[in-house]
Amino acid sequence: MERIVSLNEPKLSTAGQESLPPLSIGQWQHRNVLDLDDFSPEEITLVFEIANGMVEVLGRDVKKVPTLRGKTIAIMFYEPSTRTRASFELAAKYLGADTVSLDAARSSVVKGESLIDSLRTLQALEVDTIIIRHPCSGAPYIAVRHLQTRIINAGDGCHAHPSQGLLDLYTIKRQLGDLKGRKVVIIGDILHSRVARSNIWGMRSTGLHVVLCAPRTFIPQGMPEMLDKCGLDHVTIEHNLDHALEGADVVMPLRLQKERQQSGFISSIREYIRLYQVNAERLKKAAPHAIVMHPGPMNEGIEISHDVAYSGSSLIEQQVTNGVAIRMALLYLVAGVKNQ
Ligand code: CP
Repeated sequence: MERIVSLNEPKLSTAGQESLPPLSIGQWQHRNVLDLDDFSPEEITLVFEIANGMVEVLGRDVKKVPTLRGKTIAIMFYEPSTRTRASFELAAKYLGADTVSLDAARSSVVKGESLIDSLRTLQALEVDTIIIRHPCSGAPYIAVRHLQTRIINAGDGCHAHPSQGLLDLYTIKRQLGDLKGRKVVIIGDILHSRVARSNIWGMRSTGLHVVLCAPRTFIPQGMPEMLDKCGLDHVTIEHNLDHALEGADVVMPLRLQKERQQSGFISSIREYIRLYQVNAERLKKAAPHAIVMHPGPMNEGIEISHDVAYSGSSLIEQQVTNGVAIRMALLYLVAGVKNQ
């Protein structure tokens, strides 16, 4: 594939990131995007610079550039999704690519076709990139072992959701500018959250301090040791939400995954609301300029109150909007990496 270098020249901004040496588009090496654990700070900065150019494209009357014209993006989802699926599809279309969107429940998966056979079928149809969501942690990694086609992980089990991690960090950076010394509180079901995991990786080396706040049952066993072993010293664990929120700059409740609550992780939803709901009263403990984020989908009235979700502090819809620019940037960057 020829190197794609122009998108009507996306405007590259280094605002707030002057300490990082710039990385050129030609130095980008991720043919697949599986998680953020193998992204350097410079690579994340490059994604954001390209996304800034995409934001400019998205502000035009005609949101379409020919950058990926002639390319085909397949979207293969084995789990429900609203925002990730719609925004990847829009991102591909705004870049001029053709898309094919497959819902596992309406594909030959229901006839017993294996993950690899389905993906190899898409490869045989000569798609350029496959975006996959799968309930099993590690599924995109297996895909990469069997395919030459580019793979972007759109969420695998409890493991990773790299584009969500990037759009969350991008939203924080656009809102707060300098991240050094800022405090992000991620609240709730850390145990099952691929969003929390990708955010932890993405936020290292940014100057952000991440506080994971949850009942003990929602913190993976051995997490402090794992954080230590991986050198993730920007992360701490706190079980009391009122303490965690003191002076917070970013407050991010996670969805209480009700489908998992039969397993007894919490005593009751009413108790969870009492101890962990982000509501207006609790938010007073955060910094006056604190922003509220949520990866979605939200359970209003459970992990977040309705008034907070739609308050002036809430950037929840902005996250969704920024997700299109971030996903355009990822599609653009991976498309430029030659076959290996
Ligand atoms: N944040 C997120 O992954 O949302 P969807 O499940 O709607 O894609």
